[in-house]
Order: sequence, then C-alpha cells, then structure tokens
Amino acid sequence: MSSSQNILTAGQMEADPTSRCSGSLKKNAVLVDGVILNGPIIDSDSGEKFVEEVYNLLMNEVVYKATDVTEKVCEWRDPAELKKLLDVNIRDIGEPHQKLLQLCQNTIKYSVKTSHPRFFNQLFAGMDHYALAARFITEALNPSGSVSNMYAVNVARYKFCPNIKEQGLSSTARLVMFASEECHYSMKKAAAFLGIGTHNVYFVKADHQGKMIPEELEKQIQRAKEEGALPFLVVATSGTTVLGAFDPLDDIADICNRHKLWFHVDASWGGSALMSRKSRKLLHGIDRADSVAWNPHKMLMAGIQCCAFLVKDNTDLLKRCHSAEASYLFQQDKFYDVRCDTGDKSIQCSRRADAFKFWLMWKALGTIGLEERVNRALALSIYLANEIKKRDGFELLWEPEYANICFWYIPPSLRDMEKGPEYWQRLNEVAPTIKERMMKKGSMMLGYQPHRDKVNFFRHIVISPQVSREDMDFVLDEIELLGKDL
Ligand SMILES: Cc1ncc(COP(=O)(O)O)c(C=O)c1O
Repeated sequence: MSSSQNILTAGQMEADPTSRCSGSLKKNAVLVDGVILNGPIIDSDSGEKFVEEVYNLLMNEVVYKATDVTEKVCEWRDPAELKKLLDVNIRDIGEPHQKLLQLCQNTIKYSVKTSHPRFFNQLFAGMDHYALAARFITEALNPSGSVSNMYAVNVARYKFCPNIKEQGLSSTARLVMFASEECHYSMKKAAAFLGIGTHNVYFVKADHQGKMIPEELEKQIQRAKEEGALPFLVVATSGTTVLGAFDPLDDIADICNRHKLWFHVDASWGGSALMSRKSRKLLHGIDRADSVAWNPHKMLMAGIQCCAFLVKDNTDLLKRCHSAEASYLFQQDKFYDVRCDTGDKSIQCSRRADAFKFWLMWKALGTIGLEERVNRALALSIYLANEIKKRDGFELLWEPEYANICFWYIPPSLRDMEKGPEYWQRLNEVAPTIKERMMKKGSMMLGYQPHRDKVNFFRHIVISPQVSREDMDFVLDEIELLGKDL
C-alpha cells in the first residue's frame, strides 16, 4: 500500500448531514483507494436496536427461563439437525435483522442451560447475577489475550519429536526456533512457558521496513545446525505489532521446505487483510503455512478475545498433541457421534465459545461487509499518512503497508535544531508528554514507543468503521494543540 498513490479529492461531494459522525466537522469528502472517508460507515441505529432486542431476549430466555426449574435443562437435537437449525453457513451478503434475531434465539434455545438448577454435570453451574452483569460490562468494554502462538510452538514441537509429550524435554537435544526480530513478544513467552528457553529463539534480522530477511533466516538455521542444536520451527509475522510489516511468506516457505521445518505464520494482526481482495496479496504464500494464528478480535472487532489457531494437518495432530483422554468427560460410549467433542484438542478444559461472536458478526455483515471494513480502515490509514506528510512539524517514519501509522510530532522549538544528541533526547520526551496531556484531558488515546534506533514516536492504529477522516484531522490538530509549547 503506497500512501502517496490512489488519493483523489472528491471536491464537491458533501458528507451525509444525517450521519452520526464522531468529532465531526462536516467537510468535503475525500476518496482514497476507492473508499469515501467522510462519516462513519457503521449503521449505528440498526446495530443499537439489535443489541436492545438481544438484551431483551437474554433477560427472558436466559436470566428468567434458563434458571427456571420447570423448564428443560437441554433441548436435545442431533448435531446434523442443529447445523440446519442454526444455518451455520457464512455468505457474501449479511443476513437480515429478523433472521439474526432468530439465530440468536435458536442458539439460546438449543444450548445446554448451565445455569439451570438441575445442571449437575460440570464443575461450574448456576448464575450469579452480579458476575453476569460484570461479564456484560467487561465484554462491552473490551479489556485482553491470545495463546495461538503458544499452540503453534507446542504442535510444531510435538510433530518434530512426539516423545516429548510423554517423556518431556530430556528426550531430545536442544531445540531451536526462529522468528524475526520484529515478532510479537508472545513467541518469547511461549519459549519460556514450554521449556524451550528464550535463548533458543534465534531472532532473524529484519530490513528497514520490518520484514524478515530470508538470507538471514538461512544463516541462523545454519548456525543452529553447526552448534548441534535441532531447528524445528520458523515463525513469520504478517502484520508486525509496531510497524505493521508483512514478512515474505513465499521465500520463508521455500526455506522451511528445504530444511523440513514447521512453518507458522503469526497473522494475529495482519490476517484480516485476507478479507480484502485488494490487500490480501500482503499475505501471499500463507496457504503454504503449517499453522496460522489469527485474531478476529483485532482488525475485525469481534471483541476480546477471539483467537483462531488454524492447522493444515488433517490427521488429528492437534488431538494427538494435546489429548489427555479424561474419562469423566470424553466418554467414547456417548449416544451421539463423539467426533463432535473437540474439547480434548485444546489445552484448556473449560473454554468460552469465542468463535460464536465472530460467527454471528460474519453472518450479520457478510463477507463483503467485513471486506468493506478492512478496505475502509486501510484507506483511512493512507489518508492519515498523506496528511502527516503535508503538515509542518509532522514526520512519517515509514510508508505504511497496513493500518499502523508511525510518526513524530516535532514542536516548533525543535524544528530548527541540529539533529544531535540534545535534539533526539528532547524529541524522545515529546510523545510521552503529549500522551499524558491527552489522557488527562480525555480527548483521545494513541500509543507511542521507541523502536530500534528511533526515539519515542506515535503509533496510530485505525480500525473502527465509526471513525471518519474528520477524526484523522482531529488527531493531528489535537497533537499540535497539546504539544506546540514543548
Ligand atoms: C503480531 C501479534 N501477534 C500476537 C499478538 C498477541 O495478541 P493478544 O493481544 O491477543 O495476546 C499481538 C498483539 O498485539 C500481535 O501484534
């Protein structure tokens, strides 16, 4: 994505005066990469009505009925019949309001009522109204976490040396995994947690844009082999945390093939670009991965948490790797097809049905609706990057490939200074001070960090369809207002 291309000013196009635009000064609209950036694209009115109706459904069907001893604990249906009743297929176009409500009602109706007084099946049961209210609040406010990368390390290791499951780490020589120096810190945590050791994550150099350099990967693999260690896994990142960079997946897949290494792609952040026909080329080669981590709770807004871990293997590797065959849960003589019990594939025992919220959202918006959201976020990112390039006192650090816009604000007092140690020291203090001021004022929030040889800079992330280009203008105006005296 080049921020200097594909921008057209739609001079006379007026913003929709009826739209509920956040922080909006209505100005002429701007068209970037085929996307109109004025006003929010989310239909708040029908969305709010839907939340209200589902809330009523929850009160009646869950809070009152599911706790009523005169009602049934479960309304049994065969899995194949359930699939039809819930119409699980996802389509290009979203489903109408009434159909979505019906789906919600059916989901409640055919779910086991764990809050029913006669549910004695598990180590959880019942309903505490205060805890439930708190869960609504935390869900609505989005407080965090993901273990998909940890799953990848464990499954890759199991595939490499299955004995490890029963005999532990002493059954193998030193294992080494590879990831770019720009990878997410969860890779280090996974290495520590799984007993691989953080020193056995060999970090591969990235280029100036933050992409892994394939030749450097090759060198690190050779190094590990020469040391007598056992390479088993390469992690590529699609959408790095700070810069939003995409590693060259095809080149990395070739190297993994040559050395017979598990190829995992951490697409937690960037995986959602696959929804966009314009942007999915960023992940070219992802089909060659052995596993992929993807968080629909990030760019697609499914709500924290919603972490998908996708594995190419179709030989039940996940189950072999993680199963403990607990006889009190996974009885093989149940009255239905026990392949429907997927619980033993995961490392947790009790788990929330995080996939459900993503499924309902996908049903409601359709594939095209999700694509529009991604396209819009990326077009807004191009717009912001271009505005930064135009404004005095703002400096874009890298051309964005995705929705991460990294920039410095340089206050007037620094603009004519020589770029020596004092300049960098003072610039380093600018972003934290502006952040403190914006938080105390409550006007907006955006992150900052130092990175490699760069002193503190802002990292702006665009996601929500409620955001319009007026909000992008506001961000820059507000930074200027809060920081011009520094
Ligand atoms: C590239 C990447 N991978 C993994 C994660 C971890 O995701 P979570 O915050 O859901 O644990 C992040 C979080 O920012 C990330 O940027």
